[in-house]
Amino acid sequence: MPNEGSYEAALRRSNEIQADLPLHPEKYTMLTGDRPTGRLHLGHYFGTLVERVRLQDMGIRTNVIIADYQVITDRDTTEHIADNVYNMVIDYLACGIDPAKTMIFTHSAVPALNQLMLPFLSLVTESELERNPTVKAEQEASGHALTGLLLTYPVHQACDILFCKGNIVPVGRDQLPHIEQTRQIARRFNERYAKVFPSVDGLLTSTPLIPGLDGRKMSKSYGNAISISMTDAETAKLIKKSKTDSERNITFDPENRPGVSALLTTAGICTGRDPKEIADEIGMGGAGQLKRYVTEAVNGYFAPIRERRQELVKDMDYIVDVLHDGNARANAIANKTLDEVRAAMGMVY
Ligand code: TRP
Repeated sequence: MPNEGSYEAALRRSNEIQADLPLHPEKYTMLTGDRPTGRLHLGHYFGTLVERVRLQDMGIRTNVIIADYQVITDRDTTEHIADNVYNMVIDYLACGIDPAKTMIFTHSAVPALNQLMLPFLSLVTESELERNPTVKAEQEASGHALTGLLLTYPVHQACDILFCKGNIVPVGRDQLPHIEQTRQIARRFNERYAKVFPSVDGLLTSTPLIPGLDGRKMSKSYGNAISISMTDAETAKLIKKSKTDSERNITFDPENRPGVSALLTTAGICTGRDPKEIADEIGMGGAGQLKRYVTEAVNGYFAPIRERRQELVKDMDYIVDVLHDGNARANAIANKTLDEVRAAMGMVY
């Protein structure tokens, strides 16, 4: 197929799969995950958690990796890692991920998954790794030296996806180069040895990107992110101190009024309303009124999720059980795949 790796081709396949998902859910295995570097925020929620729950409830096999090893791709510390991991499980469950349907597990608890690194590394070249635009961008953003772990990032993501024979990965457009590398690794392995791995596609989501409160990319390190786990008061405080501008009349203009527009987008996504309509309604009410509206919209939307969170926090034994159960299931799958890999390579003694 000409130009199979292009964005257009990826988009076309993604659309075909989106249409097929409800018809043939049994054909699909999803794998995605998060790095436990802090609390999940509204960007994660609207950008991917909602989609995971949707796929889970369609009857697709859904797998979520808490990528603890990825924390050290561009940091020197694993401080707070256990706390971050447990809180991530709590956030998942509060948001509707059902551990009876979705396998939740940690990277570091699945040795056979990580062992795929060795054969997979033999299937990529140094220049392919160095060309990966996402790796470059992440390294630059971190201000940290390029570690071997970050350089090989697309390869360990391939291990994460392929150990459970994942064939769909919900991604943003910027993550497509990773998916392409995973496709290549699977194809090269299958050609060189025997067919073990599926063909993988990115599932491009149409959800609009929700900006941070200042209009920049939402990120904990910018202090512009509302966490799912915040209290109503913490949410109100963060919104209150967000930067707007000196023009009283509220209008939706992301280019020239990033702060005001980010607030309108946030309110819009939480209420299901058009941000422009909210702007018209507030008009000369100014930033104060806008902020009160956004606070109510966010706290209203997240009230049931935060209530569930409160309940879950009371039973940490259950949270630990969920993770141990997911890890046990992931190990069983990884061991089976690694056996197939060894058999395909003739390494059975
Ligand atoms: N890199 C993803 C993140 O930063 C988490 C992740 C780890 C992942 N392995 C993956 C996502 C495999 C998709 C597929 O949040």
